[in-house]
Amino acid sequence: MSLLAPWACVLVGCIFVSSAEVFSLSDRYPPLWNESPGQFSDYSVENGKYIIDPWVFPKRMGMYKILLNKTASYFEKFAPDNKQNLLWGLPLQHGWQYTTGRLVDPTRTTDCGYESGDHLCISVDSWWADMNYFLCALPFLAAVDSGLMGIPSDQVLLLPPPKDQTKFCLSVSSCQSSFPSTMRKWNAFYKYSCLKNPMDRGAWQATVYGVAKSWTQLGNYHFHFLSFSFHDIKALHVIYIL
Ligand SMILES: *[C@@H]1O[C@H](CO)[C@@H](O)[C@H](O)[C@H]1NC(C)=O
Repeated sequence: MSLLAPWACVLVGCIFVSSAEVFSLSDRYPPLWNESPGQFSDYSVENGKYIIDPWVFPKRMGMYKILLNKTASYFEKFAPDNKQNLLWGLPLQHGWQYTTGRLVDPTRTTDCGYESGDHLCISVDSWWADMNYFLCALPFLAAVDSGLMGIPSDQVLLLPPPKDQTKFCLSVSSCQSSFPSTMRKWNAFYKYSCLKNPMDRGAWQATVYGVAKSWTQLGNYHFHFLSFSFHDIKALHVIYIL
């Protein structure tokens, strides 16, 4: 916290409080967690590749669910039931974006995300949805690439949004060429905390901070990673600050 400017603390405080609401409302799991795909075979397959549409809320949440599942064994020694998995912050924050209406089409030209329309739709016009894409697709695809997911790296393809397609990378190879530094850092993160032995929290935080810092190079955003305990889940929260 001491790293953050006072005005930034206010924003962090808001996110903390809102996350707390999500926690208590949903019995700690992100919204639609049970309905989201939990393994690759829950997605469709085309030409030998798993096809994931990250612009549909449960499908995107499913990517986190698989990521949490596949990294669970590495965090087991800290607490049962995957409670100490530091990656929980990512789906929890995405769930918070969903329940607070941040993923809807802000232009209202489509019914994407609205209760009365396509309520599971994630709008490419939502700033939150676009930022979250990179906090979902990149960690997910880097995990595939690092071998954690147990499938070859060319076996997953994400579907593009209806517009602005060129902004979003869709596969391990295209994300590596568009965001080499971020992909490298996530890979290093998995190597440190999962594939190598005992997790050293200091090293872990350093890696995560590296990931956060590489994010600041993607745009005029500052990202802060913050971990805290809540309801006995140690969650890593990714805080965006404009
Ligand atoms: C991971 O997913 C598999 C298949 O759905 C399930 O059997 C297993 O219990 C899950 N593991 C954890 C730790 O959630």
